[in-house]
Amino acid sequence: MSSDILVQIEGVRREFRRGGEGAEVLCGVDLMAKAGEMICLTGKSGVGKTTLLHLMAGLDRPTSGTIRVAGEDLGRLSDSALARHRARFIGVVFQAFNLLGHLTVGENVMLPAVFRRRGRSDARRRALEALERVGLGDRAEDLPGSLSGGELQRVALARASFGKPAVLICDEVTGNLDSQTGAHVVNLISDLCRKDGLAVIAATHDPCLEQVSDRILNLVDGHLEETDVGEGE
Ligand SMILES: Nc1ncnc2c1ncn2[C@@H]1O[C@H](COP(=O)(O)OP(=O)(O)O)[C@@H](O)[C@H]1O
Ligand SMILES: [Mg+2]
Repeated sequence: MSSDILVQIEGVRREFRRGGEGAEVLCGVDLMAKAGEMICLTGKSGVGKTTLLHLMAGLDRPTSGTIRVAGEDLGRLSDSALARHRARFIGVVFQAFNLLGHLTVGENVMLPAVFRRRGRSDARRRALEALERVGLGDRAEDLPGSLSGGELQRVALARASFGKPAVLICDEVTGNLDSQTGAHVVNLISDLCRKDGLAVIAATHDPCLEQVSDRILNLVDGHLEETDVGEGE
């Protein structure tokens, strides 16, 4: 695998058992994402976008097929090795911000450092840098409850990028935001992709996110189909 290919998915299937019957949500998905590439994942609700993102993030395992992320075949890793690989190379942001309400914004951002053996003051400095990058350097000591939805999503993005991941996985990250706030978050994601060379895979219905993507992949009947960027405008 060439070093700038950060995600390589081949023949991935994912079946869920429902009352003894198997339902195949993904039936042969192939996908490749390079450093600095932004891929938009579209498709109707319930088609399997979140399922695919969870597999890429190492939060779930496929029924069959291979998923390589940042040089590792995830299927060959034990659960603990997978958790370490995820903490090191994969950042995730979801529609629900998933911040811990009793920790400050700064502590939420540096939470991934718990899984690494690095100094706390260094982690605090880097958390502040990550927050400054999303325009929230002055909110580090605040509790999440005092922030708006758009601010919370920017904190979630700062947390996802805190550990300098190679791959950023975004699931409907602007789904709870108004269009202007959403556009701000999209710009920050695009910036991480273009300036830091992250491979970004983002499931979305947001045209704003589609517009800044290099490729749009539509999930239909368990397969990915490539749509031309700009089509339907
Ligand atoms: N853990 C699970 N167990 C059983 N079925 C699931 C599970 N996760 C997802 N599914 C099913 O897989 C299908 C795709 O879901 P999902 O990936 O959430 O779609 P999308 O994100 O595109 O809306 C749905 O029918 C959903 O009910
Ligand atoms: Mg989903």
